[in-house]
Amino acid sequence: MKKDTLRKVRITDTTLRDAHQSLWATRMRTDDILKIASAIDDAGYYSLECWGGATFDVCMRFLRENPWERLRQIKAVCRKTPLQMLLRGQNILGYKHYPDDIVERFVALACENGMDIFRVFDALNDPRNLETAIASVKKYGGHAQGTICYTTSPVHTVAAYVKLARQEAAMGIDSLAIKDMAGILTPGAARELVDALVKALPEMPIQVHSHMTSGMATAMYMAAVEAGAGCVDTAISTMSSFSSQPPCESMASILESEGFSTGLDMKKLAEINAYFAELKKTRQPASSAKMEPVDAGVLVHAIPGGMISNLRSQLAAQDALDRLPEVLEELPKTRADMGYPPLVTPTSQIVGVQSVLNVLSGKRYSMVTDETKHYAAGYYGRTPAPIDKKLQKKLIGELKPITCRPADLLKPGLAAAAKDIPPKLIKAEEDILSYCLFPEVALEYFKWRAQSDDAKDPIPADLEMQNGAAGKEACPHAAVDPETAKFAEIGRAFAALMAACGGTKADLSAVKLGVAAPSGRVGEAALSPLQAGRSDKDVASQVKEPAGTPVKAPLNGTFYRSASPGKPELAKDGAAVKAGDACCIVEAMKLFNPIKATATGTITFVAKHGSPVAKGDTLAVIA
Ligand code: CO
Repeated sequence: MKKDTLRKVRITDTTLRDAHQSLWATRMRTDDILKIASAIDDAGYYSLECWGGATFDVCMRFLRENPWERLRQIKAVCRKTPLQMLLRGQNILGYKHYPDDIVERFVALACENGMDIFRVFDALNDPRNLETAIASVKKYGGHAQGTICYTTSPVHTVAAYVKLARQEAAMGIDSLAIKDMAGILTPGAARELVDALVKALPEMPIQVHSHMTSGMATAMYMAAVEAGAGCVDTAISTMSSFSSQPPCESMASILESEGFSTGLDMKKLAEINAYFAELKKTRQPASSAKMEPVDAGVLVHAIPGGMISNLRSQLAAQDALDRLPEVLEELPKTRADMGYPPLVTPTSQIVGVQSVLNVLSGKRYSMVTDETKHYAAGYYGRTPAPIDKKLQKKLIGELKPITCRPADLLKPGLAAAAKDIPPKLIKAEEDILSYCLFPEVALEYFKWRAQSDDAKDPIPADLEMQNGAAGKEACPHAAVDPETAKFAEIGRAFAALMAACGGTKADLSAVKLGVAAPSGRVGEAALSPLQAGRSDKDVASQVKEPAGTPVKAPLNGTFYRSASPGKPELAKDGAAVKAGDACCIVEAMKLFNPIKATATGTITFVAKHGSPVAKGDTLAVIA
């Protein structure tokens, strides 16, 4: 075949976003990028994915960098290759719906600072949640890439995906991405889906994004390309595979052997790879080095790898790791009950936490998170399949269900946000947008930035590296995954909810996710605020033990005098309890553990409601 007749397949490089988010807990720094940016720009990629929710969050939270500045600096070097970002539709880079004025202004500033291609997705594939973002990208001159979040379920048919693609095409998208975040798209299914999309929308460029988690992605890309996809996402080989993207060099060789051209400069790729192979020695966290090359389990349960490691660490933190098989069995059932949402942030967290609660509470939906409530009431968008009416009523309680576009309920928010920040901390308009998306994290970063240069607090990521090096780990640091931190955050919202239900008449809406967000200090994700604030004084303030059979705390956590997560009212001293029945709760990290009565009799509580307790502390005595 003559060179000029070869069909061109474009390659997007994810090394600067998804690859290090998947393998390095998003710890790549701007300086790391700038040292190799020029070579990357010369390699012949179609686009460079370099911005998204986690990169933005980690920049401020752990690296003490301004994400906007990172964008400007990359753009200053990469003049040939378009920059690309992942945008969560109406959620922008955060975890909730933002008013339209914030979405529009964010997109405008991103364009102004050098972003070219916006991959816009919605966790529920609800087109109403994509409208404003796509319209804004078009308005400010960006390339709007629509997205299909790929998942499998009885309602996720090829016809349903084609319908979604047509809806997005009607919004004026420039291209369409199939986003296979769990790495579950098989070559056969990809061929069928791309084939149908090409028939329905012959002019629409199609790009495929996947992860090597299950080991299928290179073969799947090949099938998709043969069916008509024109662009695939890869990472430079040393930062590919495992839960990252397929290796760029291998994919390019496969494509070229099949008569496609990629236009990539293999010499440049070798130079780039050598750079990241060296950088890996100081940037790859210990947790990543322990990863299995292929997680064949995904082929069976279709649960994204990152989600399972979250579930595992949460359960381990409370000595309930043995219940992981039960949680993995429960998760698909919870997902079905919730109308089969694709498992991607934030639905992966909502479904994951709810599944854990369904197992640990002993009774499904006896404890429902605030997030589940809002999800079931329609505040995240339309669920792919409707939720059973009876279950929905049980889940949402007093909350009013909605059917409109969730953002229609929101008043413009930019002006109010600007007023929230102390004026001396704001340097530019972009700071207000950073604050809207990650309020606590941004404020802490602004305060750090305002410190004088010779008296700045240490950078959290540097501390992680020092701590890792001092510890037993062979690899430099045990990094906190922002998604894990998010998971802990949801748990903290429960803790606040429980405390609120337990006595005060606090406004329950105040514990909505985001309000109870962590301040983001390293390692804090492992502690509830009450645990973190535990002191000897708290312990001494506990009442002297009366005589009887003690009920002891099985783990460190926060004590609640409630009999079960579903019954938030306080249990009373002198109440009759039966041996084996739940008589109180210890919340550890993010989960509520009902504690069983050790005897039959009348109970007297020793620990204070809402106070931190240590494993072995006496919580109550039964006489
Ligand atoms: Co991805």
